[in-house]
Amino acid sequence: MRGPIRFGSLELKSNLFLSPLAGYTNLPFRIVAREIGGLDLATTDLVNARSLLEKNRKAFKLIETDGRDRPLAVQLFGSVPEEMRDAALQLEALGTSSIDINMGCPVKKVCRVGGGSAMMTELDRTANLVRTMVNALKIPVTAKMRLGWDDDNLTAPELARTLEDAGIAAVFVHGRTREQGFSGSVNLAGIRAVVQAVKSIPVIGNGDVTTPEAARKMFNDTGCAGVSVGRGAFYDPWIFVRTRHHLDTGDLRPEATFVERTKVMCRHLDLMTEIFGEELGCVMFRKVAPWYARRFGPVAEFNKRVVQLKSRAEFHEILANYQLWRRQFCDDQGELLPRFRPAAMVASFMREDGPPSTTRTAIPVPRGPVEIW
Ligand SMILES: Cc1cc2nc3c(=O)[nH]c(=O)nc-3n(C[C@H](O)[C@H](O)[C@H](O)COP(=O)(O)O)c2cc1C
Repeated sequence: MRGPIRFGSLELKSNLFLSPLAGYTNLPFRIVAREIGGLDLATTDLVNARSLLEKNRKAFKLIETDGRDRPLAVQLFGSVPEEMRDAALQLEALGTSSIDINMGCPVKKVCRVGGGSAMMTELDRTANLVRTMVNALKIPVTAKMRLGWDDDNLTAPELARTLEDAGIAAVFVHGRTREQGFSGSVNLAGIRAVVQAVKSIPVIGNGDVTTPEAARKMFNDTGCAGVSVGRGAFYDPWIFVRTRHHLDTGDLRPEATFVERTKVMCRHLDLMTEIFGEELGCVMFRKVAPWYARRFGPVAEFNKRVVQLKSRAEFHEILANYQLWRRQFCDDQGELLPRFRPAAMVASFMREDGPPSTTRTAIPVPRGPVEIW
């Protein structure tokens, strides 16, 4: 559970990672998480290698980064070795720290072209693609996979071992199969089997880590060298510092206070408007603010208005009004009265509880049989 870790030539200060969440883990969020601390390597959303080679504007927006966002891995998907190699070479020239290959995405659009989870079913072809990339690049190449296509095909241990021989520097393993999608619980024994299958590369465990205790369990039960957090980081951007503290001391730091949360939320909006422009940044922030607000206590008044946000000035007006309104639920020191405090941060974050509302309280994941995604 020690901190520093190596991916080939890349030395990292933390063995806690931010998992890519397409549509969420964009540059503003990565900067927010980094500024809070405990995180070193973060990864972009998945990007189509061919789109980068074709200089597609949307693909370039996905790899947007700056000096505040280092070290950074770009996650590529694609199945044509030469395209993956050439896109990776371009990224290397732009200063990207490492390339992550998506071998876990179950979505049809990605699997149909032989990318994502489909790569787990063809070991030789996948090893050839990795070799083509590793031979051409100086920066490390990593892979992100699931446990396998389905329960009858848990290929991750064999795949990880084969890719290690092909030169991969580390593997990230989401402890579910493609068939499982996001349902059921994460199979820690499955991740452990991958840890045991490789010779020396780091295996990073991933899936359902929403608290420091869950991260510790992932380390203990799997023997993994690092833990990667996706949705849990969006619900609680403090999870990396809180986990580091928990791993180092065994203690649990209290959750961020209301004042800390509002401060970081304002910073997040500033970065959204800086990077996406005020209009789009505010529209995108409509789905972000309710996550910060989930820990505020009574919040209907805030959510009702923030989901229609149009400008930065309006946001500050909404927040100021909300702070006044919220006082009725607080004691003289400004602390929420016990009966209004939200329940402890638990894995129920992963579920969309209660009746449908205008604000989402869980990151939507595709549902139903994966064949129709
Ligand atoms: C909305 C959403 C988008 C995702 N996008 C990606 C992606 O672009 N690339 C990838 O490798 N995994 C992606 N994932 C999977 C996550 O990285 C992660 O493996 C999974 O959510 C389990 O980890 P968690 O429980 O910590 O979120 C996505 C998951 C969700 C819910």
